[in-house]
Amino acid sequence: MKGIVLAGGSGTRLRPLTKVTSKQLLPVYNKPMVLYPIETLVKAGIKEILVIIAPNNAGDFLKLLGDGEDYGCKISYIIQEKPEGLAQAFTIGKNFIDDDNVTLILGDNLYEDDFSADIKNFKGGAKVFAIHTKDPERFGVVEFDKNMKALSIEEKPKAPKSNYAVTGLYVYDNSVIKKAENLKPSARGELEITDINNLFLQEGTLEVAFVHGKWFDCGTFESLFEASELARQKSLNVLK
Ligand code: G1P
Repeated sequence: MKGIVLAGGSGTRLRPLTKVTSKQLLPVYNKPMVLYPIETLVKAGIKEILVIIAPNNAGDFLKLLGDGEDYGCKISYIIQEKPEGLAQAFTIGKNFIDDDNVTLILGDNLYEDDFSADIKNFKGGAKVFAIHTKDPERFGVVEFDKNMKALSIEEKPKAPKSNYAVTGLYVYDNSVIKKAENLKPSARGELEITDINNLFLQEGTLEVAFVHGKWFDCGTFESLFEASELARQKSLNVLK
C-alpha cells in the first residue's frame, strides 16, 4: 500500500494566513497541519508517501518534511501545477503508485481515528469513510437506503440527500489510475474524487465505513480553530 498526501490548492478561504505559506503548513496547536495526515498514514503502516504540493511554498514543505526520515517514512514530492481536482492525484502520481494499492489523504483533513485495520485488511475495490455532519452541502454526500447500503454520492449538493459527508481519506486498488485517466472535468473544472467513488459504487466494490472519532477538514477559520483546540486538549491529556 502506497500513500499520497494531497497538499495542493491555494487556500484562498484562509487569507491572509495563506499569504505567507500553504494552508497545510499552518499551525494546528503545536504542529504544522500536514503532519497530522502523515501520522495517520504512518500509524496505519504506510511507509512510502508521495506529497503533492502547489508550486508556491514547495520549499517550505521540503524544509519541514525532508526525506521523511524524522517521521518514520520515505517521502517524495510532485508538483500539481493547478488545482484541477483531487482525482488528479492518481494521474500525476501514477509512476509512484506503480502496481500497488493506494491510500489518499487530504493534507487538511485531521482524524482522531486509527485506520490501521482498514488499511492493513484492504483487499480491493474502494473504501471511504463517512461522518454525520451539520453542513453536508460543503462536502461529498453519501445517500443510504434503510439498510445503510450506499446508493449514490453527490459532490457539494444544494439539496443533500443525507447528513453523511465523505471525508478526505480514500483507499483504492490499482484500478483507480485507469479510472482517473478516463475522467472528464466536472462543471467546476475539476477531476472529482466523487466521480471516482461513483465508478466503484457502480461496480459494486465501494465500501462506506464510518468515522468514529472527531474529524476536521480545516477549510475554514472555525474548523482550523476547533482542530487546534482538540490537539491542545489531547496533548495536555485533558481528553482520554
Ligand atoms: C473535497 C472533496 C469532497 C470531500 C472533502 C473532504 O472537497 O471534493 O467530496 O467531502 O474534500 O474534506 P474540497 O476540499 O475540494 O472542498
